[in-house]
Amino acid sequence: MAVMTTFNNSRPFDVSALVQIGTLHISAPSNIALIKYWGKRANQLPCNPSLSMTLEKSRTYLSLEYRGRSYLKDQLIHLNYQFEGHENLAFAQKITKFLEKLTAKECPYLAYFDLSLSSHNTFPHSAGIASSASSMAALACALVTLEGQIFNQQYSDEQMKQRMSHLARLGSGSASRSVEGAFCQWGVDGLEVGNDEYAMVINKIHPLFLSMRDSILILDDQAKAVSSSQGHALMENHPYAEARFKRASERVTELKQVLESGQWDEFARLVESEALELHGLMMSSTPAYILMRPQTLEAIERIKRFQVQESVKITYTLDAGANLHVLYPEVEESKVLNFLQQSCVPLCVEGRMIHDQAGLGFRFETGL
Ligand code: PMV
Repeated sequence: MAVMTTFNNSRPFDVSALVQIGTLHISAPSNIALIKYWGKRANQLPCNPSLSMTLEKSRTYLSLEYRGRSYLKDQLIHLNYQFEGHENLAFAQKITKFLEKLTAKECPYLAYFDLSLSSHNTFPHSAGIASSASSMAALACALVTLEGQIFNQQYSDEQMKQRMSHLARLGSGSASRSVEGAFCQWGVDGLEVGNDEYAMVINKIHPLFLSMRDSILILDDQAKAVSSSQGHALMENHPYAEARFKRASERVTELKQVLESGQWDEFARLVESEALELHGLMMSSTPAYILMRPQTLEAIERIKRFQVQESVKITYTLDAGANLHVLYPEVEESKVLNFLQQSCVPLCVEGRMIHDQAGLGFRFETGL
């Protein structure tokens, strides 16, 4: 009987157990960082902890068909991949690279499988919603579920979610925060809470924040001039790197207290400052670059005026791009939607906005 070293804790496994056929249907959401991960170390480990809100409607739906063999054809990944019903070479290459990386260490059993993946997103490309977070999280959740089935693995719920987040992180850092829970922390903060390998759920959240809405203003739908990977790399010799990593770490601790107590003004102060600081880091990198557009600044000014003049609980954050995430609790929904319609729709590309809200993570479901 052929035996090889297993994926997780070096226990040997019987390859005849891999001869299984099946399909898994999973969806995972994207997330928006409130305290940003910006700068990474080897093996996709973060230079500072980050804290995010999980989205609900912006999701990747993924179907994974697997057919196991008890023998190796070769050392290659055997993957058939379709995105939104069509072949997509760029995405297929990205996923193959990720699966190769997993096969080399975490999931050697993948070399015994023929895999067929098809996925689609509920949100458009270049909308300021991280599709790598939702897609890598969906794939990681599917793989850990597959492991559970083929090895009859006895994971506790917590171990399973940690491993999902850990594998997702290897695909894309921010994907580690897309597995479960409305608010997640990835990385160790100043009080030694958290883990760099995987994200954890923040449980003590005031109801005001659990009902959070996120309206995403599409202010620019062109591909970014500088990718997030390039941006992370520019933190390596950044003159403010050390101060930034320390500050982000302190802010994660601070934001958790604010999320628990429900102080909106403190929340808005921290989140807005983080958004601008992220872009400040880009503007002070070598080479320096700007991802905000004139419409981004105009929208920020309009939101700030509305926030102050109407005393409305509203704030905003930015990802590494020009599009704005407008955050507000459910109680303010009608006032904010009215304001967005009047004052921000004219700034958006073809008047486009995406209305999302805080969600709870991955689910087993088909996207049909
Ligand atoms: O996960 P990556 O490598 O795409 O980096 C994400 C970086 C930011 O979106 C700007 C911040 C974050 O924490 O998500």
